[in-house]
Amino acid sequence: MEALRCNLNPTFLDQFTNDVLTGLSQQQKTLPSKYFYNSRGSRLFDRICDLEEYYPYRTELSLLPRIAQEVSALLQQPYDIVEFGAGSLVKIRLLLQHLEHIRNFVPLDIAGEHLNKASALLKSEFPALSVMPIVCDFTRKVSLPTELTLPRLGFFPGSTIGNFTPQAAQTFLSNARKTLGPNAMLLIGVDSKKDPHILHRAYNDSLGVTAEFNVNLLQRINEEICGDFDVQAFQHYAFYNTRQGRIEMHLVSQKRQEVTIGHTRFSFAEGESIHTENSHKYTTQEFRDLAQKAGWQIRSTWADEQQLFRVHLLSS
Ligand SMILES: C[S@@+](CC[C@H](N)C(=O)[O-])C[C@H]1O[C@@H](n2cnc3c(N)ncnc32)[C@H](O)[C@@H]1O
Repeated sequence: MEALRCNLNPTFLDQFTNDVLTGLSQQQKTLPSKYFYNSRGSRLFDRICDLEEYYPYRTELSLLPRIAQEVSALLQQPYDIVEFGAGSLVKIRLLLQHLEHIRNFVPLDIAGEHLNKASALLKSEFPALSVMPIVCDFTRKVSLPTELTLPRLGFFPGSTIGNFTPQAAQTFLSNARKTLGPNAMLLIGVDSKKDPHILHRAYNDSLGVTAEFNVNLLQRINEEICGDFDVQAFQHYAFYNTRQGRIEMHLVSQKRQEVTIGHTRFSFAEGESIHTENSHKYTTQEFRDLAQKAGWQIRSTWADEQQLFRVHLLSS
C-alpha cells in the first residue's frame, strides 16, 4: 500500500537540511525530534516500546480496551478516524476492535516506509476498513481525503504531544481542531508528572536502546544530507528538567571537534550538547487549561492506578 505523500517530497531534503543547519547555528544547538523517525529510527522506537523501563507505551496500551468500550458507548453516531503520528499502528487495533461502523481510517506519519508497511498489515487484518495513509508533517496543514464525510475522531496516542513546547502544543491542538472539522472528538495520550526517578529510568534504559535512537539522528544526517558526524564521539544524555516539567534529551560532544554538513562547518567544545528532544509532562489541570486555550473541552479522562499516564477524550 503506497501512502499519499502530501508535503514531504520533493522538498523534504531541503527542509531537513534547512532545519538541521538552523538548529546547529543556535547558541544552544538543537535538532527537531521529528527527524528521529527514518526507517531505522522507527524500528528503534518500537524496541523502546518493548522495554520494561519505558512505562508510557505499555501503560497507555493497557488502558485502551476499556477506553475503546466506553468511547464506543459515548459516540452516538459513526465516525471516521484520523491518527496523528501513527507509527506501527498497534494501538489503533484496540480501538477498531470495539468501535463499530468505522469505515475510513487515515493514519498520518512522517516516516513513510514504516507507515506504508504498517498500513498494509492493518488493511489485511481489517479488510472492510478503508485505510488511507498520508505521509506528512502534521505540524503543517494537512488536507484529508474527500472520502471522509462523517464527523472525525482524532487519535493522538504515545504522549507525542509532549514533544511540543506548551505553546507549540496549543498551536498543534488548535490546528488539529480545524483539520478534524465540526463535531470532532480527539482521544489523546498525555504523560503525567511523576517521581523523576521513574522518568529517568524510562529515558536511560539499561540496554541503551534510547541512546541508540538518539544517536541515530546524527547517522541519518550523515547518510541523507552529507554530514560527517563521528557518531561515536557523541553521548546520549537525558534528564528531568523540574522547572520546565519535561525530560530533555541531548547528545553531548565527548571532545572538541568540527563537523561539516554539506558546505557548512560547525565547531563543538568538549561537553557541548545538541538538544534533540523534549518530553513535557502534564497534570490534568495543566492539560485541561492547554486544551481549553486551543478550543477543546475534556469530556472524559482515564488513568492507570498509579496515575503514570492519562488518556483524555476531548470535544470541540
Ligand atoms: C512517540 S512516537 C508514537 C508512535 C505511536 N503513535 C505510539 O503511540 O506508539 C511518535 C510518532 O509520530 C511520528 N511523528 C513525529 N513527528 C511527526 C510530525 N511532525 N509529523 C508526522 N509524524 C510525526 C513519528 O514518526 C512516530 O511514528
